[in-house]
Amino acid sequence: MLKNIIDDPALCDKGEERMNWYRSQMPLMASFKERYQKEKPFSGKSLLVCMHCEPKAAVRTETLLEAGVERIVFIGNLGSTKDDIAAYLAAKDRVTVMARKQDTLEDLREYVRLALEEGPYDLFMDNGAAIMQEYDPDSFSFLGGIEETRSGRLILDEKKIVPDFPLLVIDDSRVKRLIENETGVGQSVVDGLMRQTGMLMGGKKILVIGYGWCGRGISQRLRALGAVTYVYDTDYVAMLKAKVEGHIVGYLEDLLKEVEVVITVTGRFNVLRKEHLKYMKDGCIVANAGHYNMEIDVQGFEEDCLERKQVQEGIEEFRFEDKKIFLLQKGNPLNLSSGAGNPIEIMELGYALQLLSLEEIVKNKDLKKGIQDLPESINQEAARLSLHLD
Ligand SMILES: NC(=O)c1ccc[n+]([C@@H]2O[C@H](COP(=O)([O-])OP(=O)(O)OC[C@H]3O[C@@H](n4cnc5c(N)ncnc54)[C@H](O)[C@@H]3O)[C@@H](O)[C@H]2O)c1
Repeated sequence: MLKNIIDDPALCDKGEERMNWYRSQMPLMASFKERYQKEKPFSGKSLLVCMHCEPKAAVRTETLLEAGVERIVFIGNLGSTKDDIAAYLAAKDRVTVMARKQDTLEDLREYVRLALEEGPYDLFMDNGAAIMQEYDPDSFSFLGGIEETRSGRLILDEKKIVPDFPLLVIDDSRVKRLIENETGVGQSVVDGLMRQTGMLMGGKKILVIGYGWCGRGISQRLRALGAVTYVYDTDYVAMLKAKVEGHIVGYLEDLLKEVEVVITVTGRFNVLRKEHLKYMKDGCIVANAGHYNMEIDVQGFEEDCLERKQVQEGIEEFRFEDKKIFLLQKGNPLNLSSGAGNPIEIMELGYALQLLSLEEIVKNKDLKKGIQDLPESINQEAARLSLHLD
């Protein structure tokens, strides 16, 4: 029988107290709850979740419980777990939580393996393909599930994972890209950088590596605060777009010589590696905003450094012979580890996409199997509900 694995159950009351603010700011989830109380669309269904364990996600969990879910096993993503919220959720009936603040990738994989051993589950909610990479199709079959991120989609494609059930990719939706990735991540990553460093953005020379949906949003907002923005992308079309939108572009090696802060947001691994160190300025601050903490090759930095030490919570100094580099939050996504994650309004819009997708999987028996984009009807419905026009 699965047991909760959390930092401190005594933090439950603190977590519960914090929930009030989030509930009051999530009218869309309140409307789902109201409908779910009547319709109970997930009655008797079991659900395996691997997502960020923080207050907004806890409101989504409450909403799912209203919908009649029989059991939720909630595994926290790396670097974003709030210990009080993990304790609050773990104290709920029908919920098992495996999420600790300092969990490693190995811990996460172990939680997923333990959870899958306790299957079957009807539905799943995955983030970064953490569940799908451990899932053995011979053990049991899901009714269906969702994958949240670009990183997850890339992993599914690279590993040629072909599910025998519908797997809807939330990231492949207009709503998610335009509103969450560009607007939401744009704001929250800049917020995380400011909170973590306490620095002024005005005049700061900041390089964003990756000019996709997230990178565009981050660069735009940094520039709006007066930063001098540099962009590098391996896709020349994306770099041209960055140039015509007013950012300084060029080869990575040249840009690294100029900047004081580097942010990776590509969804790929080892984008910033030890061979780049020689180009970087003394005191350069390095952070990641992509889903996995492998965009920066921290291990490579460690191999070459004379000393690695924490200078304050969330900031580590790597001392080399000729310079020092500061790494924020061990390369975990900055908006989640240093800030409060994506803005509330953005997240509940994303949750609307998730919940409508799960409903589609349960209700639509003709839904095709395999990895697929969200039906446009779900984009439209989530946006309509979020506009609160009625
Ligand atoms: N922190 C968050 O809250 C949050 C939210 C949403 C998405 N994400 C993550 O952010 C990452 C980016 O998402 P996106 O929607 O912007 O993806 P995207 O596919 O729109 O953009 C990625 C960009 O990176 C570029 N790129 C790829 N490899 C590169 C390399 N080695 N060097 C430079 N550029 C490279 C690509 O050409 C592309 O333009 C993903 O990992 C995604 O999961 C994070």
